[in-house]
Amino acid sequence: MSDSRPIIAANWKMHKTPQEGYRFAQQLVTKALNLPGVRFILFPSATGLFHIQDALKDTAIELGGQNMHAAQEGAYTGETSAPMLTACGCRWVIIGHSERRHIFHETDAGIRAKIPAALDAGLNVILCIGERLEERRDGSTEDILRRQLQGDLAGMETFPADRLIIAYEPVWAIGTGVVATPKQAGEAHAQVRAILQELFPGLPGDDAKILYGGSVKSANAAQLIQIPGIDGFLIGGASLDVDEYVKIAEISQIETKVES
Ligand code: PGA
Repeated sequence: MSDSRPIIAANWKMHKTPQEGYRFAQQLVTKALNLPGVRFILFPSATGLFHIQDALKDTAIELGGQNMHAAQEGAYTGETSAPMLTACGCRWVIIGHSERRHIFHETDAGIRAKIPAALDAGLNVILCIGERLEERRDGSTEDILRRQLQGDLAGMETFPADRLIIAYEPVWAIGTGVVATPKQAGEAHAQVRAILQELFPGLPGDDAKILYGGSVKSANAAQLIQIPGIDGFLIGGASLDVDEYVKIAEISQIETKVES
């Protein structure tokens, strides 16, 4: 991917009304002026997107949806399609978040259908993968990552590294305050990179961008962003407070020393 700045993505989950999200976005626009070395992406709930895009107009801060349906339109009560997201100013969508997989029982086959639908509609994708605690404990982390990547990316001939980013999010670290150790995160990122090269021979390993997610906060951002192979963060809880979110971005900018 040509843009080598760390991605600092905010996954608000089911938090913030459109008004609250708008105020956050307005504050972020001012605070982000000093942070050209990171790439901000906000993922509000679907109801906030249309309003929040206004606050981000003419700025470098990008917007995305937290989920989407694979169909363009149809009788799917409660769902949102890729064209609906793009019409609200989205350039991104999160697919396969562990809460979608485990609470809403999304399958790899369902996730697989969404990825080309998103890309075809012009959306860039953050695909989330990660093992559960019992899987880490029984030593099957790498198998789980391989199974998810194989299942989710099946049928793709090439890996569009400039438009498809992987977020490694160990399920046991999400919203728990327990963050992966640098060793655990570094190993998993290296495994993801190697599996992608296995699945897509010829893909230069450095081309794939891999984010870390799971209890990232300003207190642990420095040690995580320094790990080779971590290209940014997908942040839940700590992204709800604009000052804490910006602090993580500041730390990431300093630690990665990307020339802007
Ligand atoms: P967390 O969530 O930062 O609250 O752990 C991360 C995520 O689910 O993307």
